[in-house]
Amino acid sequence: MALVTTTEMFKKAYDGGYAVGAFNVNNMEIIQGITEAAGELKAPVILQVSKGARAYANHTYLVKLVEAAVIENPEIPIALHLDHGDSFELCKSCIDGGFTSVMIDASSKPYEENIALTRKVVEYAHDHGVVVEAELGTLAGVEDEVSVDTDKAMYTHPEEVVDFATRTGCDSLAIAIGTSHGAYKFKPGTKPQLRFDVLEECAKQLPGFPIVLHGSSSVPQEFVAEINKYGGNMPGAIGIPEEQLRQAAASAVCKINIDSDIRLAMTAVIRKYFAEHPDHFDPRQYLKPARQAVKDMVAHKIVNVLGCNGKA
Ligand code: G3H
Ligand code: 13P
Ligand code: ZN
Repeated sequence: MALVTTTEMFKKAYDGGYAVGAFNVNNMEIIQGITEAAGELKAPVILQVSKGARAYANHTYLVKLVEAAVIENPEIPIALHLDHGDSFELCKSCIDGGFTSVMIDASSKPYEENIALTRKVVEYAHDHGVVVEAELGTLAGVEDEVSVDTDKAMYTHPEEVVDFATRTGCDSLAIAIGTSHGAYKFKPGTKPQLRFDVLEECAKQLPGFPIVLHGSSSVPQEFVAEINKYGGNMPGAIGIPEEQLRQAAASAVCKINIDSDIRLAMTAVIRKYFAEHPDHFDPRQYLKPARQAVKDMVAHKIVNVLGCNGKA
């Protein structure tokens, strides 16, 4: 199977009451870990590349690595998506350069500017057979290079979603219901609670329309404990409880974004490896278990959170 758009994936996910995992990729080991898990579990998967990932690894390297993963996993649909595109030029470059899906994130701009920029990207993308994710509302935490104060997080206004989706023509919509980016999503001691009322109202306004959740890492405490045990310092790292993500996956949410949990899984394993093997210096020695940790973590998400195993 060649790279696909998310259109078919999302239709099946919406109707089937599950979600597709969108995992951020930055290097070969991450791409291999994710796609090996998805391939073995016959799960559709979205590999997403941020502006920072593109700056780190180079557009062509990432596209070619993803193309290799497609060849190695011919039985599952794989989409290549731009995460948090912040300009028409960046989106255009990814559309022209082999991506099947782009996000234009103009959510920090005034409403009418968000609509105008999103519409411009949609017109170009659709002319080239590429789908577009847009965002309405502001997540707490750090969105790429934009820092958003937790107290100023702005939930999506359900009364705006029909106007926004209609006027932009976007194919999916990321909404803000209390998730946030990074490993420190909530103040320690507070009880994480997503606003399912906002999600339900948005879904009611847009029947059949795929909703996207960003900032959906769970920050597994076993990874945090391992990192701290082996020389790290991540006090108070907290994520979204898995049962709340499962509830979201069963609803109109068709795409769930996970990046921080990949970082934590790799960091925990590599820190442990270095502590236990101070004499080792071959990157293959520590990247191999790190790749396996990504694979195990993604397999866990597919089966226990997203519910998309066997849906390829
Ligand atoms: O939402 C942001 C993603 O976790 C990507 O992060 O910009 O550091 O690659 P990054
Ligand atoms: P996390 O930081 O919760 O993994 O979110 C990733 C994300 O939303 C990428 O767009
Ligand atoms: Zn995001």
